[in-house]
Amino acid sequence: MDSGLEGVIAAETVLSDTDGERGVVLVRGYKVQDLIAQHGFEGAVAILWEGFAGTGLTRDSIHREFAEARQLAYSRLPQWLEAAARQPLIEAVRMCLAAVPDQSTPAQIAAALPVGIAALIRAGKSLPALAPDPALGTAADFLRMTHGRPVDAPIARALETYFTAVMDNGFNASTFTARVVASTKASIASAVVGGYCTFTGPLHGGAPGPTLEMLDDAAASGDIDAWLERKLSTGGRLMGFGHRVFRVRDPRADALRESLQRLGPSVGRLAFAADFERRALAALARHKPGRSLQTNLEINAALLLDAVGLDREAFMPVFAIGRSAGWIAHALEQQKTGRMIRPLSKYVGPQPGA
Ligand code: ACO
Repeated sequence: MDSGLEGVIAAETVLSDTDGERGVVLVRGYKVQDLIAQHGFEGAVAILWEGFAGTGLTRDSIHREFAEARQLAYSRLPQWLEAAARQPLIEAVRMCLAAVPDQSTPAQIAAALPVGIAALIRAGKSLPALAPDPALGTAADFLRMTHGRPVDAPIARALETYFTAVMDNGFNASTFTARVVASTKASIASAVVGGYCTFTGPLHGGAPGPTLEMLDDAAASGDIDAWLERKLSTGGRLMGFGHRVFRVRDPRADALRESLQRLGPSVGRLAFAADFERRALAALARHKPGRSLQTNLEINAALLLDAVGLDREAFMPVFAIGRSAGWIAHALEQQKTGRMIRPLSKYVGPQPGA
């Protein structure tokens, strides 16, 4: 019995893999860095979904499907937006996904998130939702619908890099959840709701917001080393470090850093973050010898989401826009090739009459 299922293989997949020893994230045979450089988000989704959400998928065909699906999602906003906008953003996004009909296509499920999240962010500022622009890709249109104006190309490209980087990496906790839901032949839309709910925790998709708070806290203290010592000696966890599978630095962290560097001086925190990372790795090696706790992608993810103008409370939901493509692919694969997932538990409670 391993309560964290560490090292347990629960499925075969052709979709993606995290090689934690070599520091490689593979998506359908491509290194994730190559997907970012050569295919963009819609192109990467076409590759990931090929054979599961259709055949002969291309960057252009996914662009068109997503554009149409964003328009459908926009037309459905009146069904749920008013009630959801009264809730905190993370809960409101759960309502947005719960409103997606069971029979929706993969593109319609995926497109509900950028449209719904942009509308919720604007509703929180008492601003009306903006209609999608079918000419734009997901990242550029999401930022336009959120900020109320088109954003510069490098900003849109940075978010597109992020969406592609985080799209899929094998059996993370939320992807596994999506597969469990789909394994019962429940709808793909339901599988995505399950994936999202798992994602909201601070140990998983909820990490980027608290990561930025941690950096601010450490910077305000004026002494990073003393701050790290205090944190680790009281049993605290450093956000942005450690991973269940990676024993080396997460390669996606570097892809995001390159993207941030291209944004130039607008990202003032980059140098501080690099210094913090060096000192944090040394402190972790001292406090947790033999653990190999390395940098995961969250520090650069948090800086990138901040640099494209998003508020911290939006970080996790926006992360889910990218990751939902992976949940959908895995749910489809599970239904096509898998069995119902039904493990055992070991009963350690009382026996009758005890
Ligand atoms: N800071 C300090 N100590 C840590 C950290 C960390 N970031 N990560 C793990 N450890 C320590 C634990 O305290 C534990 O020490 P102990 O054995 O002395 O008690 C040991 O390392 C193992 O910890 P586990 O929680 O069992 O390791 P697990 O593989 O489950 O952890 C996780 C993975 C949850 C990501 C963890 O490293 C963590 O909490 N990181 C910080 C949060 C974070 O950055 N999450 C984003 C991950 S990426 C993503 O999900 C998209």
